[in-house]
Amino acid sequence: MLVENRAAAASLGRGFWTVTAVLAVLSVIGIIYWVIAPLDTVMPIVAAQPGEQVDALLRFMAASGTALFIFVGGYLIYFSIAFRAKASDGPDAIGVQVHDNHVLEFWWTLIPTIFVALLSVLSVRIWYQIQVAQPPNGLVVESLGHQWYFTFRYPQINGEVTGEMHLPINQPVVLNVTSSDVIHSFWVPAFRLKADMIPGLINTIRFTPTRVGRYPIICTEFCGTDHGMMNAQVPGENGKPNPSAQWLVVDTPTDFQKWYHGWQVRNANVSNALPTTTGTVNLAGGDATAGQALFAQKCSACHALGPFSQRIVGPGLKGVLHDPSHPNLVDGDPATPANVATILEKGFTGDLGHMPDATQNGLSDKDIANLVAYLNTLK
Ligand code: CUA
Repeated sequence: MLVENRAAAASLGRGFWTVTAVLAVLSVIGIIYWVIAPLDTVMPIVAAQPGEQVDALLRFMAASGTALFIFVGGYLIYFSIAFRAKASDGPDAIGVQVHDNHVLEFWWTLIPTIFVALLSVLSVRIWYQIQVAQPPNGLVVESLGHQWYFTFRYPQINGEVTGEMHLPINQPVVLNVTSSDVIHSFWVPAFRLKADMIPGLINTIRFTPTRVGRYPIICTEFCGTDHGMMNAQVPGENGKPNPSAQWLVVDTPTDFQKWYHGWQVRNANVSNALPTTTGTVNLAGGDATAGQALFAQKCSACHALGPFSQRIVGPGLKGVLHDPSHPNLVDGDPATPANVATILEKGFTGDLGHMPDATQNGLSDKDIANLVAYLNTLK
């Protein structure tokens, strides 16, 4: 039978205050350690703002986490010794049950609430600088992830910059990132910044480089077989530089201008058009006779000139554009010349098999236009 013992509930054990004093001293030592710890033994030296604030937040979290761990762990050990079962206790004896202690509940609610609120204020301040603040005179730069490298776009430089990314020191930067294929993630450890590169979505981070130097850019999202090579810290074969290694170089303003002008000249005649993601082949002027010859060469091994059901590898293509019983193509898009051109351009993989894309099939845009013109004559 359980007997409540209110007098015992008030007792914290004989050594409680001594243990508390020891834990307080250990916590203070832990906090001092995190305030002065040389973080550059585990992380690169900060090379951009707000990197120092990120490090300060890390120190604050590590210091408070250490103190919390010492107190929780210390009391856990102390109480399990001080209130361990005694030889005289019955086999089903349980410890003193504490409930409805309003003073205790008040403090254990208030202290964590204040702590979490403080933590969120500190975090949101940094988050605001990175995500929202609009710096005056910001340099707007873009980076695109590819399998398996990064490219960069700058105002007044045509096309894309490959290899190194350069930025001038002490100028605020607005960096927009996205991807041309799968999800990558742009990470510069020395900047304490990371942004996911997601196809169809632009993520933005803002920072100001504060230290001249070369800093590795690392992809931190598994993006296929060569993901590991999208890391300037990974050496290549036989100790040679990794061919995919890419660096972010922070320059003096003069060096940056030199580099920037070099790319303006180098890319002067490059098109600014983004790589196409949807079919944009111009189908006007397609020649059905030329298309028929091409079909015999390139397509007839896999496609019959019979009805849809007459498969070789892919479906029969007679009436591909004019068969009311198959209003959609194998990719689910409506059977239109433009959508047929898209399949010719991009290829197709589905349960019917795999069709190579235009590059693998050696088809030019003109070839695609001719093939579509020919397929359009099949009724
Ligand atoms: Cu790109 Cu991992």
